[in-house]
Amino acid sequence: MRLTGRTSITRRLTLLFIIASSAVLLALGFVIASSVEKHFVELDTEVLADKMELVRHTLEKLKSQDDLHSISQLLDNSFVGHHGLEVIVFGPNHDVIFATPNAKFPIDLLAASAARNPHGLVTWTMGEQTYRGIAAELPTGSSGRSKVIVAVATDIMHHQAFFSSFLQTLWIFVAGAAALTGILGWAAARRGLAPLRAMRAQAQVVTAQQLSHRLPVESAPVELAELAQSLNEMLARLEEAFRRLSDFSSDIAHELRTPVSNLMTQTQVVLSRPRGADEYRSILESNTEEFEHMARMISDMLLLAKAENDLVVPARERLHLAADVLALFDYYDAVAEEKGLHLTLEGDAEVSADRLMLRRALGNLLSNAVRHSTPNTTVHVSISATPDTVSIRMENTGDAIPQEYLERVFDRFFRVDPSRQRSSEGTGLGLAITRSIITAHGGTISVASIGAVTTFTIRLPRAP
Ligand SMILES: Nc1ncnc2c1ncn2[C@@H]1O[C@H](COP(=O)(O)OP(=O)(O)O)[C@@H](O)[C@H]1O
Ligand SMILES: [Mg+2]
Repeated sequence: MRLTGRTSITRRLTLLFIIASSAVLLALGFVIASSVEKHFVELDTEVLADKMELVRHTLEKLKSQDDLHSISQLLDNSFVGHHGLEVIVFGPNHDVIFATPNAKFPIDLLAASAARNPHGLVTWTMGEQTYRGIAAELPTGSSGRSKVIVAVATDIMHHQAFFSSFLQTLWIFVAGAAALTGILGWAAARRGLAPLRAMRAQAQVVTAQQLSHRLPVESAPVELAELAQSLNEMLARLEEAFRRLSDFSSDIAHELRTPVSNLMTQTQVVLSRPRGADEYRSILESNTEEFEHMARMISDMLLLAKAENDLVVPARERLHLAADVLALFDYYDAVAEEKGLHLTLEGDAEVSADRLMLRRALGNLLSNAVRHSTPNTTVHVSISATPDTVSIRMENTGDAIPQEYLERVFDRFFRVDPSRQRSSEGTGLGLAITRSIITAHGGTISVASIGAVTTFTIRLPRAP
């Protein structure tokens, strides 16, 4: 089981629980064991030092005329009833002067310890027994004032037995505790992750038909709330894109249905009986008009689809707006004259934009203005600039746009008065295209309609 990579969080948490609890318990066991051990050593040291002191006293009591061998007598008396304590006394020639029954200790080790570190603890093993003891060189009051090496030791087998059983208990306890915390950890992790599973269940419900579904944010734990929030935002974006896409396809189908069925009916009627060449020609001419309208609509829709998916990247150049507006005036001159309209321009500014796209955007506004103007009025374009924006206002007098439709005129296929739609007129895509062109240039477009005066205002960032 790895702690990183693709593995279950529950498993990882369970494993971490086990490791953490085992580590804590082992550390605790170690601390307890070492303090118990220390306590044993302290007890032993105290007892051994006491006995050593006793031996020292006894040895000092030897009268000068006594020889060393009287020690046995004295010590025998002193050590009656001290179970587990062993004493050995070596004479000056390392001969054993006195020894309790089990005290067959190594003289070399003890002599070395007595010389190096008198009264310091030494541990040694003899046969099956392990001893802990102290050794010292002590003076005697005997004739010749000889010195003897005395060792006092205690059997520590029972300490060791205690330790091994303590360790065994500790291991069993740690293993049991690890297993238990493992189970608890697993349960806790599963419980803790329940909101995640709930979220997954919610997410599984989301399909193309149910993009409006959102993950619960309020009931999610803090850690998941942000994730849920982000996923919800993503869903909202997807829903919006999906809605646009399906609106777009239904709009296309809707808009193409009428001209196609017109063409079909017309063609069927013509075919219903033989007709003269002139009649055929006039029918074909009328069909051509319808086809042109459809072709225009299709290319507009293609452009719009690209623009809505940010596929239109303006090829920017620096241009003087006035020149382009005048070129458009030229283009619409004939239609304007027919209606007795005046086209006027005021101001100029430089912008960095795609010339063809910008002409298209302004051309759409101008063609609308010309179409919706009352005869013998003025279409006025004014260009002004502030330090960071350039504004283009186009004003005309004629059909007003009701307030409730002001925002919708930029929607594709929206026409204030659909009944007036003729194939020679626009496709209802003009303002939608204009807006996406302006947006692609980082600008904005707005409309106001007060009385009979309709004003479109484009704001573009100033050329750097
Ligand atoms: N200058 C204007 N004056 C009055 N109404 C306008 C003007 N410009 C646009 N409109 C309204 O906005 C609608 C959408 O315009 P547009 O997107 O260019 O489509 P189209 O010109 O093909 O009808 C038009 O049908 C018209 O009702
Ligand atoms: Mg138009």
